[in-house]
Amino acid sequence: MSGLPESVGTVGAGNMAEAILRGLLRAGMLPDQLIASDPDPARRKHIANELGIRTTESNAQVAQVSELVVLAVKPAHIEAAAADLPHDGGPLYVSIIAGCRIATLRRLLGSSARIVRVMPNTPALIGSGVSALATDSGLVAEDLERAQAVLAAVGRVVRVRESLMDAVTGLSGSGPAYVYLFIEALTEAGVQEGLSASVARELAVETVLGAARLVRESGEHPALLRERVASPGGTTIAGLSALEQGGLRATVLRAVRAATARSRELGADS
Ligand SMILES: NC(=O)c1ccc[n+]([C@@H]2O[C@H](COP(=O)([O-])OP(=O)(O)OC[C@H]3O[C@@H](n4cnc5c(N)ncnc54)[C@H](OP(=O)(O)O)[C@@H]3O)[C@@H](O)[C@H]2O)c1
Repeated sequence: MSGLPESVGTVGAGNMAEAILRGLLRAGMLPDQLIASDPDPARRKHIANELGIRTTESNAQVAQVSELVVLAVKPAHIEAAAADLPHDGGPLYVSIIAGCRIATLRRLLGSSARIVRVMPNTPALIGSGVSALATDSGLVAEDLERAQAVLAAVGRVVRVRESLMDAVTGLSGSGPAYVYLFIEALTEAGVQEGLSASVARELAVETVLGAARLVRESGEHPALLRERVASPGGTTIAGLSALEQGGLRATVLRAVRAATARSRELGADS
């Protein structure tokens, strides 16, 4: 993959860090180009055994040997983690820490630190995530390209203004859970209509996956695709009309608004 840095480290070697490191290996980076730090020996052992990369207790060592460092600790641990990292210089930092603003990272890492903030989502764990990336001024194009290439190893990447990160959290950050609920409801509905649970679940999952891929691959507006399958007086229009009567669209709008507002509240607390 083009644009990848020569070396990448992660501070924190939890689930998301592991997903990104796995993605980078899939993208062609070599184990000796990667390193991860974590205070938990069991976690370090797991990463070293599973991925064959170097691990260390020392966040400072990760920063020393990596061109790009992914900050992948929980929000409560960033102050402690940053205390070991070089200030005003060092590597390009890519933070995936939910709700942690660039201004906060700048306070912890120095005013001239190079920082990219990213909001990934859980399908990154299987390389099918979508990440929104934001930066403030002053980042050179090559740094942005490197950060984008690293995130592209676990899915798609879009760019947004930092002020829209709460909206990203409300949509794609929390979004997988909305889709799980929809899949659960479809499956239950199938069972109610007489299908076995396993068949209903397979039908529900493949329907969601296939419909999403059709939207992506056709490039057509979902409303157009929907109209095409809803023939007059047919089955689909009957189902759609029940969904609209139940307020699906308005409920989704409210769900994203509530999650966005909650993300804003949590960010204000931090
Ligand atoms: N999971 C998601 O879908 C998702 C989506 C978007 C953003 N994020 C963000 O990604 C970040 C990581 O999430 P995760 O699910 O991967 O969490 P996680 O599995 O808990 O991983 C965090 C790791 O960091 C380690 N750690 C704690 N303090 C540290 C320190 N001072 N220096 C270095 N490492 C330290 C933790 O060790 P201990 O267990 O010993 O504390 C843990 O192994 C979070 O900030 C989260 O907000 C996650």
